Amino acid sequence: RPRTPHSLRVTHSPELNPGLLPIDWLLGAWESDEPGEGSFPSIEPFRYTETLHFSHVGQPIIIFMFNAFEAESKMPLHQECGFIRMQPGTNRVAFIIAQNSGLMEIEEGELTGKQLSLKTDSLARISFAKTPKVKQISREFQLRSDGRLEQTVSMETDNQPLKQHLHVIYRRP
Ligand code: HEM
Repeated sequence: RPRTPHSLRVTHSPELNPGLLPIDWLLGAWESDEPGEGSFPSIEPFRYTETLHFSHVGQPIIIFMFNAFEAESKMPLHQECGFIRMQPGTNRVAFIIAQNSGLMEIEEGELTGKQLSLKTDSLARISFAKTPKVKQISREFQLRSDGRLEQTVSMETDNQPLKQHLHVIYRRP
């Protein structure tokens, strides 16, 4: 039987596109080191664990999947997946995100050294998404000097101003 030519194989390890070099520190797997802290003025504080996967297929684009679980019961809670694009020759970054809650989001921002700062540029939701309505999300990823990754997410809803919702530190698994 003829063997599948290399170029048609589904699984291979593509070379890193040079466009991803400024952000290559994000690639691969991460998991929460200690449980993340969830908060918001209108909810009970909660703790969660989370795994992050950032991969690429040789394009200057990162593909990501985030899976968050309730810390004690380990029940799945929240998932996000999407793409990260960088504008060639600049430090402008865009996140294109779909969330299991029925939100779809474009966040834009900048990469400064090993810190990514993003905020919602546009947001859409399914017609039966839970209330309250999210109006704005801002988030930061930072690779710390100890090699850990930190994420902070704030949000504004139609009944609360911009406040922190999530804070979590990840390590390599
Ligand atoms: C609550 C949005 C990520 C866990 C909420 C609420 C909103 C929201 C709008 C309701 C707030 C209120 O009632 O006033 C978001 C957005 C996220 C996000 C936009 C991502 C950018 C996460 C993650 C977890 C999580 C990663 C982790 C496990 C919860 C929990 C509640 C909550 C447990 C409280 C119970 C509930 O309302 O379901 N979130 N969330 N969220 N979120 Fe998030």
